[in-house]
Amino acid sequence: MAPTLSAHRLASMVGSPADDGPAYRWLADTIRVLVSDGRLVHDTRLPSERDLVSALGLSRTTVTRAYGLLRDQGYAQARHGSGTRVVVPGGPVAGGGEPMPSALGALSAPPAGAIDLTCAAPPAAPGLTTAYADSAPRLAGYTSGAGYFPLGVPELREAVAERFTARGVPTAADQIIVTTGALAALATVFRALVGRGDRVVIENPTYPNSLATLRHSGGRPVAVPVLGDVDGMSGLRSTLASAKAMLVVPDFHNPTGRLLDDAARARLAGEWRRAGVVGVVDETIAELWLDGTPDVLPMAAHSPDCVTVGTASKTLWGGLRVGWIRAPHKLIGAIATARLTLDLGGPVQEQLVTASMIREHGGLPEDAARSIREARDAVLGLRDLLPEWSVTVPRGGLLLCGDCPSPARRRWRERRRPGECAWCRARPSRSTATASRRSSARPTPCVPTSCATPCRGSLPPGTTCVVNGFNQAGTTFGALTNV
Ligand SMILES: Cc1ncc(COP(=O)(O)O)c(C=O)c1O
Repeated sequence: MAPTLSAHRLASMVGSPADDGPAYRWLADTIRVLVSDGRLVHDTRLPSERDLVSALGLSRTTVTRAYGLLRDQGYAQARHGSGTRVVVPGGPVAGGGEPMPSALGALSAPPAGAIDLTCAAPPAAPGLTTAYADSAPRLAGYTSGAGYFPLGVPELREAVAERFTARGVPTAADQIIVTTGALAALATVFRALVGRGDRVVIENPTYPNSLATLRHSGGRPVAVPVLGDVDGMSGLRSTLASAKAMLVVPDFHNPTGRLLDDAARARLAGEWRRAGVVGVVDETIAELWLDGTPDVLPMAAHSPDCVTVGTASKTLWGGLRVGWIRAPHKLIGAIATARLTLDLGGPVQEQLVTASMIREHGGLPEDAARSIREARDAVLGLRDLLPEWSVTVPRGGLLLCGDCPSPARRRWRERRRPGECAWCRARPSRSTATASRRSSARPTPCVPTSCATPCRGSLPPGTTCVVNGFNQAGTTFGALTNV
């Protein structure tokens, strides 16, 4: 179903007419900017001319001419019987979902007209294309140099350091290395700090690509169940004793959505210190607070010696391919050396855009948070179709984690090898496998919340909605039809 924009909402988005120039041109230009920077999505139905006339207090001629100009410029189209629709020139480009390692099995192609809920990545934050346009004059300042910034463009390193400081982790720009996303950041960190055969503790399940990256660097993953509260951490000490590092996703964990509280973070930091283990903290989803404001401190506030990786992929856009590493001074040199063995830096313009968005919005821009929240709530509406599922709603992140009905769970259990997590194919260490059998803990299946454009606001009636994130584990759990 095409999104519909009320006259009242459009009036609040365009503001008041500029003093100079004709009002129709101001209105058309303002709507064009809203389309260009993603605030008005393709196919949105604009309000009728009559409604907009009364909402804006402008003449009918002004509104008619503005809509006409938008049509001439290719930003709107009149449809017989359904008013005027927004057009993104060239139309929305399909695809762009995140590829999974082939070892986990290819995702089956969703049926025609399906909404794919298997890739938990939102569209670009509103305002991003405007930030691209605004960065162009600044880019000119860089073009007289060679353009290589292996550790990152200084402006972005400073902006990221300021953001860490604002979140309660005092950070200098020379503690930041810019990468092409969080996964590349993890690859760099593992390459720098983990040697062949080194044991690295991971939570089970975890994000499969991180695990693949760790394995590729020669590290040996040792799985523990996803961490919970302080009480559940008693078994961790013996596992850490022989480990070199531990990877955690403390905020809205992928795939379970778990958020570690401050007491658990402090305990974990203490265990790392005691064991001499390097904590590697994946903050990919840390800034995606959807309900309320953060009430936990970043892991680095508890563990100054840990290494943190972050990214603009989920807050701003995956297409930026901008991420970063924050490390203590004693480790940053080794990580910088490893960075240089992978590539010689990322694109300058993307870094300038990211820097200005971080400086303007901090973490997640409010408009982006709203559309992710709407997408999450639309997917939550599907609960009625799956009454036997119990779904936990986290306060943030991009994943909904559900306990699925037993026939599906049985199929899923049958497909994995003994002791193996069906999600990430990690084999737990002997002690944690025994512990998890005793506590009857089992990996929990999860449904990534699709934030794809069709999911903005509401799900189109009559579409097929495929919930087959579990294909990543070789099993399809369920398909919803005729929503
Ligand atoms: C936990 C986690 N880490 C890393 C990544 C990869 O992020 P990026 O796109 O910045 O490489 C993802 C992507 O979904 C993720 O969920």
